Amino acid sequence: MRELTGKTAVVTGAASGMGRAFADRFARSGMNVVMSDIERPRLDEAVAAVSTHGTQVIGVVADVADGDSVDALGAATIDVFGTAHVVCNNAGVAGGITDGGLDVDNWKWVVDVNLWGVIHGHRVFLPMMVEQGEGHIVNTASMAGHFAGHSGYTASKWAVVGITLGLYHEMKGEETGVGVSCLCPGWVNTEIANSDRNRPEWASPNALAEPDEQAEMRMQFLRDMLAGGMDPGEVADMVHEAVCEDDFWIFTDMSMVGLLADQHASIIENRNPTPRQRLR
Ligand SMILES: NC(=O)c1ccc[n+]([C@@H]2O[C@H](COP(=O)([O-])OP(=O)(O)OC[C@H]3O[C@@H](n4cnc5c(N)ncnc54)[C@H](O)[C@@H]3O)[C@@H](O)[C@H]2O)c1
Repeated sequence: MRELTGKTAVVTGAASGMGRAFADRFARSGMNVVMSDIERPRLDEAVAAVSTHGTQVIGVVADVADGDSVDALGAATIDVFGTAHVVCNNAGVAGGITDGGLDVDNWKWVVDVNLWGVIHGHRVFLPMMVEQGEGHIVNTASMAGHFAGHSGYTASKWAVVGITLGLYHEMKGEETGVGVSCLCPGWVNTEIANSDRNRPEWASPNALAEPDEQAEMRMQFLRDMLAGGMDPGEVADMVHEAVCEDDFWIFTDMSMVGLLADQHASIIENRNPTPRQRLR
């Protein structure tokens, strides 16, 4: 989509981090923006900030894990702007650092938000884009969607990579005019380490009770890597460019992509992957 001015972007997880930066970037390119998030006070503050660029910006509280809530987000978008042109299915949670081990409720929460959030986004917004023959979907996956990991987070992000790739082939094959991008960030300096602020009560797993020393070390490692990570604004520039240029992959850190070489070679050569050490 080369011309964005006057069109409408919808961004989930827009109250913080990357989503807020995407909303800001699209508003600066002249788009009206629907900013959506589960956290009302932060969303109100973010909407006020993004509104200063002079386009129409609205905030809609929605839980992406809940289909009815995403239906209401779609209805609010149509009500105010008539349609959507760019949709960023971006809301996500990290889960606990021990990631629940095999704790079912923890897996369910993470998969509900990270994967079902994207599925609901497709279900609600894709038909209007296909009908108008124009639009672009950006799904926020992760480098975790390419690396091995025994966690709900990894499972959800691999699934997002898979369905986004599938959607790309479908949209191109049917010549719908709808572009698709798969954002796979490396470390980005956001609030993702504090995802537990949005954890529902039913999903408070035993695994998070009294984290052991190892888990605390891994949490500290995560916080350090995020703090030294990319600025969300830089990622927003990459997303904006991908929408304009119709690029599928958006990798923010090509040095991490290089680490996939053995995994991909092991598939092509039909051999065992070389075992790797845990991050820390
Ligand atoms: N920060 C990183 O290094 C990194 C790396 C790879 C992928 N990601 C992905 O980027 C996306 C954005 O996360 P971020 O890093 O900006 O973190 P963030 O915590 O700053 O922002 C995430 C936003 O999602 C919202 N959210 C959480 N649960 C929700 C729900 N059920 N419904 C609607 N909104 C909800 C939060 O309130 C928050 O505003 C996520 O999908 C995350 O998995 C982040």
